[in-house]
Formats: sequence, structure tokens, C-alpha cells
Amino acid sequence: MSDTTVNVSGLKDWRFSIDQDDIAWAVFDREGESVNALGRRPLEELGAIVERAEAGARDKTIRGLVFISGKDKGFIVGADVREFELLTSEQQVVEAVSTVNAMLDRLERLPIPVVAAIHGVCLGGGLELALACHYRIATRDDATRVGFPEVKLGIFPGFNGTARSIRQAGPVAAMQAMLTGSMIRASAARAQGLIDELVASPGNLKWAARKAVLQKRKSAPAGIAKTVMGQWPARGYIADKMRAETRKKVREEHYPAPFRLIDLFARFGMDSAGMKAAEPRAFAPLMVSETSRNLRRVFRLSELMKAQAPKDGVFKPLRVHVIGAGTMGADIAGWCVASGMEVTLQDLKPDLIEKGIAAQAKLLARKFRTKPLRDAAKSRLIADPEGKGVGRADVVIEAIVEKLEVKQQLFAGLEDKLKPGAVMATNTSSLQIEDIARPLKDPGRLIGIHFFNPVAQMPLVEVIRGTATRDEEVKKGCSFVTAIDKFPLIVKSAPGFLVNRVLAPYMMAALKRVESGEAKEKIDEAARAFGMPMGPVELADTVGLDVCAHVGRILGNADGSAKLDQLVASGKLGKKTGEGLYVWKDGKPVKQEKTFDKREIEELGKALVEPLIAECRKVLDERIVENADLVDAGVIFGTGFAPFRGGPLHYKASQTAATVPAQRAAAE
Ligand code: NAI
Repeated sequence: MSDTTVNVSGLKDWRFSIDQDDIAWAVFDREGESVNALGRRPLEELGAIVERAEAGARDKTIRGLVFISGKDKGFIVGADVREFELLTSEQQVVEAVSTVNAMLDRLERLPIPVVAAIHGVCLGGGLELALACHYRIATRDDATRVGFPEVKLGIFPGFNGTARSIRQAGPVAAMQAMLTGSMIRASAARAQGLIDELVASPGNLKWAARKAVLQKRKSAPAGIAKTVMGQWPARGYIADKMRAETRKKVREEHYPAPFRLIDLFARFGMDSAGMKAAEPRAFAPLMVSETSRNLRRVFRLSELMKAQAPKDGVFKPLRVHVIGAGTMGADIAGWCVASGMEVTLQDLKPDLIEKGIAAQAKLLARKFRTKPLRDAAKSRLIADPEGKGVGRADVVIEAIVEKLEVKQQLFAGLEDKLKPGAVMATNTSSLQIEDIARPLKDPGRLIGIHFFNPVAQMPLVEVIRGTATRDEEVKKGCSFVTAIDKFPLIVKSAPGFLVNRVLAPYMMAALKRVESGEAKEKIDEAARAFGMPMGPVELADTVGLDVCAHVGRILGNADGSAKLDQLVASGKLGKKTGEGLYVWKDGKPVKQEKTFDKREIEELGKALVEPLIAECRKVLDERIVENADLVDAGVIFGTGFAPFRGGPLHYKASQTAATVPAQRAAAE
């Protein structure tokens, strides 16, 4: 072994060793964490590893270096988002990333082969580290995904991943990856050039890495066919195209990061050195921006929601029984199957079960790319007209008609058939859990598991606690929701729960504006300019005006909207009937082309969300949801409320914080 002074024996987050073939192994296994994130200490230790490898290469005691993970769950999830908050000025950011970049440059310049051996997720900073290696091997496993999720946090790759990914994959694939933040499967990443070699399973990784070192394998940069797009004049053309595509998805004033990334590419193209040097200065303002800070908050909120599920792993749901194969039940069943569960689906009408099952084919085809996986999924979705699955299920969810007596009767007949410890849940959207539970022998068992429509697209699921519901049942409900990859939010049983309750006054106020003559196009544009995914008028038509009127009544908006009642009475229910507040063609509302004053739109946008924010306050005061962060989380994930604003209550608080000093200054 080499006799150098660099100390790599006391590392906390890495294990470093040199084997009998003089290959150095750097195993990333972050202390006290279930996953590997590149925080300050792991990066410092990585610096020591690079230095040690440099010394070993010099005195010929190390002939290659391999990076591999010590965690079962994946390679590297990215930079440590928790530490981002420590960087408060652009200068600090530039200094921090420049130090890391200098270290990665040294890694890349090592005269010995450097190999990344990847199993599981390899994201953000993790992929940037891998790209600084000379050769990348990944398992073909479905769990192996590479990608740059930075845009979702309002930034772009800051450890020189911009230049290195473009160098390896060419600008089209690399920019696509950075602009969308998508999680790329290993085989696709191999085709793009981000990965060089695939192996069948984690067991093959070390052997393949050893071989790559011994054979001095080195990844080739993207060929001319891919890089030509990075040269003028093609570069200008594709940069414009990328801007146009990005504009279709987000507004530059809300999400500047992708646009700054395109600027960087438009300026430097295939000039790796130029791009590497310019990246920190373009990256730093984004990192300290309000937008990125709020998006990081959203990330933390999502973790907070997941943390509502106990970590003990005692309740592990595998089998689900769904009763009611209508709009909701069938999609709930399909989603559970897509998440790996076995599901029995029951309905009074067997043909509806068949129809509901057939409707899941699209989702399963999207989730499972190979035929064997798809077939296995299909066989896990079982028609069960007689309800034989009830006794075996870990979770039973009812999604039948919204009638109290019918639901009461169903549960009364069910409760003795469930196995001990199984979750008993209703998907009711407007009835109270305690009312449904009243005739039960054990009313403490019933919870609400309230999915939103469309199930596959809505990330939030409200877990409803009735007055008699036991804590333990609520927690099991959260475990189930996280097990199917949704975000649970514990909400007290109260009319509208959280999401419908805060949406109702927002939509009603907007409808009142329409009634008093304001252009619906203007209202919808103002809400979108504020950052809502869809304007309230279009949303009302999409949800269905009958549903809006019904929810409005439940929530006591008795004075409602005359226009709404009129439209409902005449059968104009919105998108589903082809006409509501808008006329709908090919699934889209027909809107009149109008231009509006920017300032007016901005003011109107802020005014439109006021009723929603006021309702959030009431929800918090009444402790319907435990705290303000969870209210914000629920509203962001349940309604799409402008994520870059950090949630309704956070937004309001920061508005107030910003205006108070200004008012004070004006008064002085
Ligand atoms: P739906 O009318 O589309 O489906 C209900 C299904 O239940 C029908 O197929 C019916 O044949 C079946 N059914 C009725 N009684 C039954 C019984 N005793 N045993 C077995 N099957 C029975 O209704 P949808 O829209 O799916 O709603 C179901 C539940 O989900 C309701 O409680 C509703 O409030 C709630 N919900 C609905 C949402 C929506 O957007 N539609 C959103 C969230 C919750």
C-alpha cells in the first residue's frame, strides 16, 4: 500500500480502501442517513479521496479509482438540499461551487481510470460527480435512474454538470434532461451517452468496474451527429425552440432557471471550458432567489407530509380491496396496482368492474415498460363482484355512491369481515366520518382516505380523522398513502376537509365576478399570471358545475351564484357536457383572444387568491390541519397553488413582511 500523508482512514461518510490489484474503492455511505446526499462533509472527504488518489497515481500504488454506493437505496440523491439555506449571498454560492468544481476538475484530470458504478438513483450533484469520472457503469435495474432534478428547485446543475452533460450526450439530450428534470432509465441514459455500460444487476457492478479499470476504459464524448446542434447556426435555432417549448410549460417571471440555462447554452454551445467558467455566475442568483427558496420549502413540505407516516414499518400494506368501480374506485384500484399492490375490485355491477379494469390499461402501460411486468400488474388487478377479497385485504376502501345510509349499511356489513389490523376507509368527499361510523361496533376504526380526481395526476391524498377515529388508524392510513407514492395529509373531519373547503370560496368569488360582468378570460389569465395551474372559471367547468354547486351548498355558501344554478338547471355542467361557463371544443375551453393590462392582471391575481388564503387561516384557527406548514403543503399539492410562492400562508406572511418595512419607511 502507498505510503502517503493524505489521511483517508478517518472518513465518516466514505469508506476508502485499496485492493490487491491496486484498485482504490471509494464507497459512499453517509453516516446516520438512509440515502447519500452530497453535503459539505461528504464533499470535503471526497476532496481527501481525490488527493489520496493523486498521490497513489503518482507513486504508482493506485491504478484506478471506483466510486460506488454503500446504501441499498441508491447511488447519490443529489446535493444536500438542507444545506442550501446556509448560502445567503451570491458571492458565497460562487465560492462554494467553485471549490467543488476545482475538486471535480482534479478528479477528472487523474491519470488513472476513474469509474462510477451506479445502482439506484443518481441525481443532480451525484450525476455531476459521475460525469466527472472517466467511465460510467449502471445496473439495468428499474430502480436505476439518472437525472438533473435541479429545475424543480429553481436552479440548474451547479457542479459543472451543464458543460459535462452536453459534452457526453450532446446538447439536445442533455438540455432536455436539465430542462425537464426527468428521471431517465439506465437504458435510455446509455443510448444518450450519459452512461457507458449496463450490467444486469448490482452483483455485477464491482466486477464490471474492476474490468473497466484494468482495461483503462474511457467514455467517448458525443459524436458529431449529436454535437452539430451545439454549433452556430443550429444552436441559435434550437435555443429558440427550447425557449418556446419551455414557455409553453412555465412563465419566465415565475420560473427563470430554465431560461437562464438556455441562455448559457446559447452563449457557449460546445465550448465546455467557457460554459464551466460561466456556470457559477449564472447559477448563483438563482440559488439565492426567492423562487428557489420557496421551491426548496415545497420540497421540505413534501418530506414533512411523508413524515406523518410512522417509520417503524410495522404496517406494510400489500393487498387492497376497493368497493365501487366508478369514476374514483376504478382509478384508485389501478393506481394501487401500479404501485405494486394486489387489488380486488368490487361493484354491484360486474360490467362496471370490467370497464373499470380495462380503463387502467393506459396507466399500467405507462408505468410498466416490459410485457412481463405489465402482465404481472394486470394479474394483480382482480375483479371481485362478491367481495371475497375483503377478509384478506390490508386496506379496504369504499368508493360507492355518496349517500350516508348506503355507506353506513355497507360498513356495518363489512366490519366483521375485515382481518384484524386492516384499515377500513371511505373515500367520501362530503360526508362526516363520525356520521358514517355511528352504527359501527367499533367506530374508532373508520378513517377517510380522500383521493382527488384524476387519481393518477393528483399527488395529495387527505387522510381524514373522525371525532372517534383512533390515532393508530390514521397513522396506518398515512403509511398506506406513502406506500402508493402519494403525499398524505391528516385532516379533521369537517365539511370540505381542507382542499375543497379552501377552493370553494376562491371559485365562488370568481364566479361572482363573472356574474357582475368581469371577463372570464381576464379572471383566468390573472389567476394563471399569479401562478395557479388553471384559472378558477376554467377549473369550475372542469370539475363540473353540478359538483361545484353541491360542494358550495355543503360548505354553506348558500347565497351561491345564480348563474351557477341557472347553468346547472339547463344541463350546462361544463367540460363534460360541452358547455358551462365556457363552450368546450376538443377538450379545451373556447376563449376570446384579449389583451389585458399587465398591472391590472397582477392586482387581480392577488385579489383572486385572497378568499382562499382567508379560508386557510380559518382552517388553521380551527386546527382542521395541524399547523401552517401542513396547510400550505396540502394546498400546494392538492390545488397546485403557485409552488414558487411557497404556499398560501407563507405567501401572505412574506407579503406582509415585505410591505410593513416599506410602509414604515414611507411614514418616516
Ligand atoms: P360513481 O357513481 O362513479 O361510482 C360509484 C360506484 O359504486 C358505481 O359503479 C356503483 O355501481 C357502485 N356502488 C354503489 N353502491 C354499491 C354497493 N353497495 N356495493 C358495491 N358497489 C356499489 O361515483 P364516484 O364519483 O366514483 O364517487 C365515489 C365516492 O368517491 C363518493 O363517495 C364520492 O363522494 C367520492 N369522491 C368522488 C370524487 C369525484 O371527483 N368523482 C372525488 C373524490 C371523492
